[in-house]
Amino acid sequence: MIHLKTPLEIEKMKKAGKVVGDLLKFLEEKIKIGMTTKQVDTLAYNFIKRAGATPSFLNYAGYPASICCSIDDEVVHGIPSDRLIEEGQIVSVDVGAIVDGWQGDAARTFLMGEVSPEKKKLVEVTKQCFFEGIKEFKAGNRLGDIGHAIQTYAESNGFSVVRSLVGHGIGREMHEDPSVPNYGTKGSGIRLSNGLVLAIEPMINLGTYKVNCKSDGWTVVTHDGKPSAHYENTVALTENGLEILTL
Ligand code: MF3
Ligand code: CO
Repeated sequence: MIHLKTPLEIEKMKKAGKVVGDLLKFLEEKIKIGMTTKQVDTLAYNFIKRAGATPSFLNYAGYPASICCSIDDEVVHGIPSDRLIEEGQIVSVDVGAIVDGWQGDAARTFLMGEVSPEKKKLVEVTKQCFFEGIKEFKAGNRLGDIGHAIQTYAESNGFSVVRSLVGHGIGREMHEDPSVPNYGTKGSGIRLSNGLVLAIEPMINLGTYKVNCKSDGWTVVTHDGKPSAHYENTVALTENGLEILTL
């Protein structure tokens, strides 16, 4: 069931969105070659607590950390560990916070030092995929218009779209209906209306779209070992048009 949000509820969601957006800016400054991914998680946990918010990922279905930190061929849901961040890697950081019962969810992919041109392009195209997608997020359009725009942009740049993971509605719960695929057919799916709040999150691969889950039960990796990038924001459709809550 889709829970459309009132303008007042969207105002409340902006508070969680701001914590998440500010946290990602903070982490972009702080993340450095030679840190462990666990150190990044600790920075995030402390930031969320200081903001008076609750980390939404921690203990979600048994997930053991406040962020997901996914390096190179890791697509999403990398668990923070003692692994060191190295020169040339692309590191995607996904964070979620709850304020007054409302959720925010967003992700960025950071370039660590000198990164190969193909990885750099992958990260840029993945971000632009999000912005291509939200051009279609308007009342009267259909959900498939968003996925179609993302897929078209990714594939026209020679990249592939992960199929088995999708964006989602968000509100009092992190994952609400509808599912938001990053692929699709124009004119298909539910009609978009004011009050809809979505986490739109293209996951784009350099090689095959196929992915596997590692034996830790969380980390999703590309089937061919090639890199993957992720970019996500929580976005609301309001009477005043589109609002990105986590920028
Ligand atoms: N942003 C991710 C998502 O949209 C985060 C979930 S990680 C989890 O699904 F650990 F919390 F599950
Ligand atoms: Co999400």
